[in-house]
Amino acid sequence: MAERSFACEVDDLDDGDTMTVELGGLPVALYRVGDEFYATADTCTHEKWSLGEEGDLDGFEITCTLHNARFDVRDGKALCFPATVDLKRYSTIVEDGRVYVAPAEVSA
Ligand code: FES
Repeated sequence: MAERSFACEVDDLDDGDTMTVELGGLPVALYRVGDEFYATADTCTHEKWSLGEEGDLDGFEITCTLHNARFDVRDGKALCFPATVDLKRYSTIVEDGRVYVAPAEVSA
């Protein structure tokens, strides 16, 4: 992934919605919670399932609908079995109505 990649327009995602974008050949899940955007690897770490396309976002938690693993979209942490491996997390930048994703972690 490039240093910073255009992901979507702010208006492409409503509050509570998710989507998958392909950035540098990698599927990335985007999540909108209120006016904040979060991004993680799209593929559930349990088995291969798209969180951006098939996941169920509730607050800051994305549930994988295949076997119900949950992750925190803010840091990618796996919150319950059967997922035991965290999701890779990406930083997001919102600028001029556009959302960008960058590979570097942003310190909290
Ligand atoms: S593939 Fe996501 S919980 Fe099993």
